[in-house]
Amino acid sequence: MKILSVFGTRPEAIKMAPFIRFAQNDSAITSLTCVTGQHRAMLDQVLDLFSIVPDYDLSVMAPNQTLNSLTCRVIAGLDEVLEKVRPDYVLVHGDTTSAMAASLAAFHRGLKVGHVEAGLRTYDLAKPWPEEMNRRVIDVVSALKFAPTATSASNLEQEHLGGRVIVTGNTVIDALKHTVERIGADEALGASLADRFSFIDPARRLLLVTGHRRESFGDGFVNICKALARLAERDDLEIVYPVHLNPNVSGPVHALLGDLGNVHLIDPQAYLEFVYLMQRADIILTDSGGVQEEAPYLAKPVLVMRDVTERPEAVAAGAVKLVGTEPDRIVSETARLLDDRAYYASFARIVNPYGDGHAAERIADAIMGRAFTPFQPNLQD
Ligand code: UD1
Ligand code: UDP
Repeated sequence: MKILSVFGTRPEAIKMAPFIRFAQNDSAITSLTCVTGQHRAMLDQVLDLFSIVPDYDLSVMAPNQTLNSLTCRVIAGLDEVLEKVRPDYVLVHGDTTSAMAASLAAFHRGLKVGHVEAGLRTYDLAKPWPEEMNRRVIDVVSALKFAPTATSASNLEQEHLGGRVIVTGNTVIDALKHTVERIGADEALGASLADRFSFIDPARRLLLVTGHRRESFGDGFVNICKALARLAERDDLEIVYPVHLNPNVSGPVHALLGDLGNVHLIDPQAYLEFVYLMQRADIILTDSGGVQEEAPYLAKPVLVMRDVTERPEAVAAGAVKLVGTEPDRIVSETARLLDDRAYYASFARIVNPYGDGHAAERIADAIMGRAFTPFQPNLQD
């Protein structure tokens, strides 16, 4: 079976890496990889960490790229690869422009598509924009839909899209588990990570921040920065913020927070370093999809700077809360977690709604027609 995995951004790479590594050791699978390069630097950080050498690289990234130019370049570039490779399956992940364009290119050639992380929905095309459209298009054209949870599978069943829906768990937990074990098993690595982040004062609480959503560009990011500046007035708190390379994010963030002593604006971190930071954090403030899935596995409270989420499971389990982008709300919710121990403890429980570390194996087994047990979440403390 010849499987071509296609992806282009940091989160897709983290979440496809477990499958690619599993498939490389599965003698029944010929695994090939094509990266679009939608994220150049942030993608390459992940490829290095997981030792993935792509067979094809479309190198599409342009500074401040538009969605239409990106879509055109991915479809045109991938079409040539598909002509050459003629895979049995094209595997894409999630909801990026790379994934949507790749699934369309495969569909137009009559090839079978497998969608990893299928069925996530807000049912609002504006939030997240354009990702809600991207994932719906991919699910329409996919023959195999790998739903991470029962909720996402149920969304797909209700839409009557055809194809086969399989509940696998999210591959991000495979990647996270592997990385946590790697850090835990290597004392020298742990020491070098501690050394690298020696600027973080261990006597203060740590707030880890990430953000990149297009619907927050402009006023949303200005508000987020205002909230962080107010929180930075506390002398018991340090803020570490790896800033996304999108100029619509890095511009305002550096302009508004660049001069504050206890706000550390750092470059996007490679996954190993970011997992270490999540382990050290007391609270995580984010709009990231992947971080919402990872943090509950690490028993870290997450405040999500959005109004809606396509990941309701951890919200229902009480490990994640939506707080929007208004400064007053972000400041008060963060302060409550910092100052109310019982409230904090109610969030900081290990719950695994998103995966058990075996999602990649289930995806391979489903494609190969082998028997497997679908993912069942563990929501116990
Ligand atoms: C993209 C995805 C989003 C995903 C997010 C993860 C789309 C429409 N959006 O948004 O779904 O959640 O990635 O981070 O597919 N840049 C660099 N180097 C990099 C990465 C980005 O310089 O390594 C800059 C470039 O100027 C680029 C810009 O960021 O043009 C925007 O990148 P793009 O991938 O279009 O959008 P994201 O906001 O990253
Ligand atoms: N991440 C990382 N380095 C960072 C920030 C995040 O490796 O500096 C990881 C994070 O652990 C998660 C993924 O990147 O697995 C999330 O990416 P992002 O927030 O860009 O996209 P989303 O998940 O919202 O699609």
